[in-house]
Amino acid sequence: MSKKINRNDPCWCGSGRKYKVCHEMFDDKIAKIAHQGHIVPTHNLIKNAEQIEKIKESAKINIAVLDEIQKTIHEGMSTAEIDKIVYDMTTDMGGIPAPLNYEGFPYSVCTSVNDQVCHGFPSPDVILKSGDIINVDCSTILNGYFSDSSRMFCIGDVSPEKKKLVDVTKEAMLKGLEQVKPWGFLGDMGQAVHDYVYANGYSVVREIGGHGVGIEFHEEPWVSYNSKAGTEMLMVPGFMFTIEPMVNMGKPDIFVDEENDWEVYTEDGLPSAQWEIQVLVTEDGYEIISY
Ligand code: MF3
Ligand code: CO
Repeated sequence: MSKKINRNDPCWCGSGRKYKVCHEMFDDKIAKIAHQGHIVPTHNLIKNAEQIEKIKESAKINIAVLDEIQKTIHEGMSTAEIDKIVYDMTTDMGGIPAPLNYEGFPYSVCTSVNDQVCHGFPSPDVILKSGDIINVDCSTILNGYFSDSSRMFCIGDVSPEKKKLVDVTKEAMLKGLEQVKPWGFLGDMGQAVHDYVYANGYSVVREIGGHGVGIEFHEEPWVSYNSKAGTEMLMVPGFMFTIEPMVNMGKPDIFVDEENDWEVYTEDGLPSAQWEIQVLVTEDGYEIISY
């Protein structure tokens, strides 16, 4: 049984202010919404100002690394070279690549090419060629705080069909972002992503989604893009998560490489694209943390 916090005690959020002038009204509002049957975030998912600053410092590295990849990625480059740039730059800036040794993941970054959906292993044998599309998914730990975002890159002459897949995937993520506001629901975002993707004739991977992020790499909740508006977790100020839909040109079905248990591919062999943004819910909307 947990003891009810005294109104004059310091707030649970760590701000140092009294509970009654900090999160008391916030907690009351959440309790009412929970009572209506909605899923609501627990206190440990709400970041305070100090934590947000630390996460933004981590994101500075994450964004700088992605910017560097964007500048240097080219036809003829191996994905192992991308891995080396990510490792060297992240550690030079004082960070740690979050994927490295995460649940046994053996590299500093995920590089997923064409029909690879996500978690692609960088390799000296994967040489980028004209017409390839690639997702580079970077995550950084700085002083224990996590940032996570990914971008797509088109190598050389990419077919209009694949280029459109890349563009629609980014637009879908941004359609979801538009729905991020306090006292809305994650399903508002999820449905916006889903509807935009299907209106363009593509499909969204169902088994893998986004996540809470910041204090840990993958926090609650799991974030779906097959959800309905008005459902899933309530979004409140201080809640931070990723929007990272994986969009398939063909069917949504996927399979995982049996040998390494990581790399994910489309079942039908058609291309897949993904963009990932890390976002904070604020008092009046959202703030982009890593993109
Ligand atoms: N960056 C991925 C994500 O967006 C994490 C993949 S787990 C890893 O959640 F170990 F492959 F990095
Ligand atoms: Co992520």
